Amino acid sequence: MKERILTLIVIIISVQIFTGILTDKGSVLYADELPCLQCHTSQDSGDTVHMAVQMGCGICHLTPHDGENLTLSLLMDTPDLCYMCHDSFEGKKQHTAVAAGMCVTCHSPHSSDNDNLLLATGSDLCYRCHAEEPFMKDNQHTAVTFGMCLSCHEPHAGDNENLLVAEDSELCFSCHSSKDFKKEVTHTPVASGNCILCHNPHSSDNIDSLEKPIGNLCSDCHGEEASGKHIIQNYGYDHPITGVPDPSRAGRQLSCTSCHGPHGSDSELLFVNIDTSPENLCLMCHES
Ligand code: HEC
Ligand code: HEC
Ligand code: HEC
Ligand code: HEC
Ligand code: HEC
Ligand code: HEC
Ligand code: HEC
Ligand code: HEC
Ligand code: HEC
Ligand code: HEC
Ligand code: HEC
Repeated sequence: MKERILTLIVIIISVQIFTGILTDKGSVLYADELPCLQCHTSQDSGDTVHMAVQMGCGICHLTPHDGENLTLSLLMDTPDLCYMCHDSFEGKKQHTAVAAGMCVTCHSPHSSDNDNLLLATGSDLCYRCHAEEPFMKDNQHTAVTFGMCLSCHEPHAGDNENLLVAEDSELCFSCHSSKDFKKEVTHTPVASGNCILCHNPHSSDNIDSLEKPIGNLCSDCHGEEASGKHIIQNYGYDHPITGVPDPSRAGRQLSCTSCHGPHGSDSELLFVNIDTSPENLCLMCHES
């Protein structure tokens, strides 16, 4: 990078000699007569000043005050302007914002109060371009509430789909303990590591950011057990499945997960009670 910067400085200094500036009276002064920062004080007022600015404005702007019309007069467009000194971002996938050269929608080219010259922090940075709506449904994943987009996504480029920093459950286990998922029997879709089969990573209208209400979610794959028939098959009675309070979980409605652990369990039928026969299951909620 240093060699590139040195070559550049030589080119720029020779160009800068001809940079003209219009004063408010309309007469032309030259760059070496009035320092840019005398008027453009905001360009270096942030806590972090871009080192390129310390090298001189003319390293990026050629003749912004030359003639009647003010122009940015950039040496070249972004991202090439930035890639004069910075390495381009490698990875199988580049963030479209980066590929499109929108560096200055995230970074100030001059100075900022945020680290890495960022124009905003947390999720606000992302919402400069992405609509907030998909992230704001009733049940938000706490990681999104905390604005931790960058704990899951690379900002520039990466090797995984959706710029993810890790794949499948490995991503989730970077914050959640994998121990909670290691019961004797692991529910097959959980064992496949595909947590987002059931959970939206951002937000949803269902508890625990589930993709669908629990009943629908489960019966997508277990159509035969979608009704209460399967619970007490031999009595010709449909046990309720939803729509009544769950006696074993205060504040919750009865659902598939009243009886079955969605991730795993110590029983083949994924029962939630420790003692794993169906009869003992009944005793969780019924006296006899
Ligand atoms: C005498 C005061 C003054 C000096 C010195 C000055 N500028 Fe400006 N500059 C202005 C004013 C006023 C504007 C128009 C308002 C604005 O954009 O801030 C402007 C606008 C600009 C713009 C924006 C052009 C656009 O398209 O909007 C750039 C880029 C710029 N100046 C760069 C420079 C650079 C580089 C230097 C030093 C070589 C410099 N200025 C020196 C007063 C000055
Ligand atoms: C690393 C390259 C780079 C350097 C160095 C640089 N600029 Fe800029 N400048 C840009 C880019 C890129 C834009 C366009 C920003 C945008 O579109 O949001 C810009 C925009 C501007 C603008 C107009 C918009 C604004 O932010 O007000 C002014 C004025 C300006 N620069 C002045 C300066 C001055 C004065 C210096 C030196 C103190 C300087 N620039 C140094 C890249 C640079
Ligand atoms: C003339 C060379 C040069 C150009 C052009 C340039 N940079 Fe830089 N930039 C540097 C140097 C030198 C540093 C400090 C060393 C480092 O962190 O790599 C730096 C640091 C940074 C940083 C890290 C700041 C920090 O606080 O750690 C960001 C972000 C950045 N540049 C973005 C950009 C963007 C965006 C552009 C294009 C608009 C750009 N740079 C163009 C030279 C340049
Ligand atoms: C979507 C927003 C976004 C865009 C677009 C973006 N960046 Fe960044 N950039 C970031 C964030 C966030 C960080 C801080 C990363 C971190 O904390 O690990 C960063 C860090 C950097 C750094 C310093 C650390 C590093 O990774 O080298 C440089 C330099 C940089 N960006 C340059 C650029 C350039 C050049 C472009 C355009 C080609 C660009 N960025 C486009 C968000 C963005
Ligand atoms: C400068 C505008 C801009 C900003 C800021 C921005 N993005 Fe993007 N992002 C885009 C565009 C454009 C696309 C491609 C269109 C789409 O899929 O919506 C995209 C796509 C994505 C994708 C899909 C992956 C792909 O490229 O197919 C992810 C993931 C993503 N952005 C994450 C983020 C995160 C996280 C942030 C905040 C750190 C962020 N974006 C900030 C513009 C932006
Ligand atoms: C950056 C850290 C982080 C990552 C990565 C992460 N989570 Fe979370 N998650 C949290 C925090 C913090 C909570 C709230 C505290 C808790 O319940 O442990 C939470 C809670 C949850 C909840 C309960 C509802 C809620 O939002 O409070 C679910 C469901 C969840 N996470 C699923 C996932 C899935 C699925 C993945 C992988 C796609 C994942 N998490 C990855 C941080 C993370
Ligand atoms: C817990 C990890 C995690 C967090 C935190 C997170 N994401 Fe994602 N994001 C994912 C996963 C996993 C996918 C892939 C979803 C899929 O394939 O259905 C994704 C997909 C995306 C996509 C592309 C597909 C889509 O749904 O539009 C965008 C854009 C995106 N995320 C932006 C963001 C933004 C912005 C934030 C912060 C507000 C954020 N993400 C926070 C894990 C996360
Ligand atoms: C088959 C669907 C399904 C899969 C796959 C799945 N979950 Fe869940 N998860 C659920 C359901 C349903 C709940 C709500 C349980 C309840 O009713 O309380 C839940 C609740 C959670 C909770 C909050 C309550 C708790 O148990 O702490 C977290 C965190 C969580 N899941 C993380 C994950 C992670 C991480 C993965 C991947 C390793 C994963 N889930 C895979 C269906 C699933
Ligand atoms: C993506 C499909 C899928 C979803 C969604 C799903 N399961 Fe499963 N489930 C399976 C598979 C595959 C097995 C392994 C048994 C098999 O091959 O039939 C299984 C096994 C089970 C078993 C063990 C009994 C057996 O036949 O081995 C129970 C109980 C169960 N699931 C309940 C649930 C509940 C409750 C939900 C909702 C929280 C749910 N499942 C969501 C695919 C799914
Ligand atoms: C009140 C408790 C309870 C509820 C609620 C419940 N189940 Fe069951 N489930 C059972 C019992 C008991 C069995 C064992 C039945 C038997 O003896 O074969 C069972 C068995 C199963 C099996 C295994 C069937 C087999 O023989 O392989 C699946 C799959 C299943 N349930 C899915 C669901 C789904 C999906 C829901 C929600 C729509 C649900 N269960 C709701 C108690 C319940
Ligand atoms: C998670 C709690 C829960 C479990 C476990 C459970 N039930 Fe129920 N059961 C209920 C609820 C709630 C009702 C509806 C009560 C009402 O409508 O007032 C109900 C109703 C019934 C009824 C209708 C008669 C009555 O008491 O109203 C029968 C019969 C029944 N259950 C049998 C069983 C059997 C057999 C098992 C074990 C295989 C079982 N239940 C497991 C919660 C449970």
